Amino acid sequence: MSHTIGIIGGDGIGPEVVAEALKVVRAVGVDFDTVEYDLGGSRYLRTGDVLPDGVLDELRSLDAVLLGAVGAPGVPAGVIERGLLLRLRFELDLYVNLRPFCLPGKLDFVVVRENTEGAYAGEGGFLRKGTDHEVATQGSVNTRMGVERCVRYAFELARSRPRRHLTLIHKTNVLTFAGDLWQRTFDAVAPEFPGVDTAYQHVDAACIYFVESPERYDVIVTDNLFGDILTDLGGAISGGIGYAASANLNPARTGPSLFEPVHGSAPDIVGTGRANPVAAILSAAMMLEFLGENAAAARVRKACAEPRVVQGSTAEIGDAVAARV
Ligand code: IPM
Ligand code: MN
Repeated sequence: MSHTIGIIGGDGIGPEVVAEALKVVRAVGVDFDTVEYDLGGSRYLRTGDVLPDGVLDELRSLDAVLLGAVGAPGVPAGVIERGLLLRLRFELDLYVNLRPFCLPGKLDFVVVRENTEGAYAGEGGFLRKGTDHEVATQGSVNTRMGVERCVRYAFELARSRPRRHLTLIHKTNVLTFAGDLWQRTFDAVAPEFPGVDTAYQHVDAACIYFVESPERYDVIVTDNLFGDILTDLGGAISGGIGYAASANLNPARTGPSLFEPVHGSAPDIVGTGRANPVAAILSAAMMLEFLGENAAAARVRKACAEPRVVQGSTAEIGDAVAARV
């Protein structure tokens, strides 16, 4: 079956790494068409547009979206993050952010990050801004529906993996409202999955375990902000952020899912050939798997892993992986 994939190269090294990912998808023999979208910080600086409604509607009809990285110097903080990346996550209901980490013999776990709520929902505001009595609040929105669908996805994933282990990470001792909802929801869903062993850890303790004994983890489920922070740490302990792939999934399949490396646009190395395209290539492998191209996905993953391609420029690494698949 042919797939129609939206390509958002974005800013900085984004277009460079996406080009290598597409090279590999082409080499593995999957039938697909691409539609390119000019979105990101550079478009914003040029035109003032972040994500026109018409473009968002076009994206809805695609089978998947592959994104490189967005964010450019000179764009105020939050414009592209909230206006493009988070808007896509919210509008396309990409409620699971899946981030796998693997370093053979050392660690092999997946973080299921809730992707549409929590601190990212944007609740809050200013009062008396700019005065000595200024107040800023920043809330965290946690709904039973939103937590439950994410937790259920994590249990299903844990059940499908050999170790069948799921850890909830939160900060229930301090975030006693949101944490309580997460813990109760987790406990309510658990009996539906009798074969899955469960654990709970506070997020601060989990940071120590990530560094000292990451082999303990199989599947982790956590809220949006903890998931953001933990997955950068996950990248750092598994060979660097240049290998960290991610999938923003709409598991209900009411629209396309979006696949992107965890790393950012790295404007300092743009055009130098030093960007590692493996995270983008592995994100494309997650896309292939979600599109049902399991054999192709497995070949891409194997080509990236055995042994890890570490030498060479962006294009040379892409060529090497493409040659292996
Ligand atoms: C990520 C990024 C984004 C996030 C930013 C760019 C909005 O850090 O995908 O992890 O915080 O989710
Ligand atoms: Mn992040």
